[in-house]
Amino acid sequence: MTNKTNNKGTALVTGASSGIGAAIATEFARNGHDVILVARSAHKLQSLAEDLQRKHSIKATVIPQDLSATNAAEALLFKATELGLVIDILVNNAGLLYEGPFWETPEPQHQQLLQVNIGTLMALSHRVLPGMLERGQGRIMNIASTSAFQPIPYLSTYAASKAFVLSFSEALNIELKDKGVTVTALCPGFTETDMIAKEDGKSMNVPFVKNMSAEEVAQQGYAACMAGKPLYINGASNRALITLGKHQPRWLQRLITELVGKQNG
Ligand SMILES: NC(=O)c1ccc[n+]([C@@H]2O[C@H](COP(=O)([O-])OP(=O)(O)OC[C@H]3O[C@@H](n4cnc5c(N)ncnc54)[C@H](OP(=O)(O)O)[C@@H]3O)[C@@H](O)[C@H]2O)c1
Repeated sequence: MTNKTNNKGTALVTGASSGIGAAIATEFARNGHDVILVARSAHKLQSLAEDLQRKHSIKATVIPQDLSATNAAEALLFKATELGLVIDILVNNAGLLYEGPFWETPEPQHQQLLQVNIGTLMALSHRVLPGMLERGQGRIMNIASTSAFQPIPYLSTYAASKAFVLSFSEALNIELKDKGVTVTALCPGFTETDMIAKEDGKSMNVPFVKNMSAEEVAQQGYAACMAGKPLYINGASNRALITLGKHQPRWLQRLITELVGKQNG
């Protein structure tokens, strides 16, 4: 990995202000990488950056950016270039989720979800790749989800967006074979973060499967990303469920996801 300031390489992590993104940024810093923290909540990013710099003696740069704008990737990378930063590792983690019947969520919110979960993820990947290819090395990790593997009622656009992330990432990983650049799709199952907190104080969940912590997901994600794995599903129970799902007829898969969707929607 090449970088002016750090030979471990600099990782840009989107959605680093909370949850899995903050944990991933921490994991990169813990392993000696400089980090670029991106999200809208500037004060949260700033406080994480100060914490990481103090604990891990790395450089942490904050770039506040709303990733739901159509020109978000361009604006973000323009700022990074102005600051003289080279992105060796891109972690597309920022994401959002709306639950409930599709038609009850206003269309602009669905559009915003698609832009953050898909549009900006694709645009950032497209814009960092030429530099990585020129240097002959680089890592991209896209945070998909176990919801990428089947339709999920009441999380319809969210699950469909993650199906895109999974398919896109695996395809890119093949296109980049032997070029020194890898793309990893990380697929966590339900993970204890603000995203899955329900109004009654409980969290969304799959019956009999324990929700993971953001730290566990981040540690496994870091290892998978640096090893250049095309796909990593977090947690043995999640891997078992996905394997089981592959051997079910589509109608049975729909029936099971209907039950899970109704429980969480
Ligand atoms: N938690 C789970 O069960 C689970 C399971 C599988 C996959 N995932 C995926 O993991 C990723 C992280 O989710 P999480 O659970 O850690 O959720 P989270 O705690 O809600 O974090 C979401 C992050 O995305 C950022 N974000 C949202 N909208 C944004 C926007 N318009 N512009 C810039 N940043 C934006 C948020 O920052 P600001 O609000 O500060 O902008 C925040 O840092 C997502 O892609 C999610 O789909 C989560």
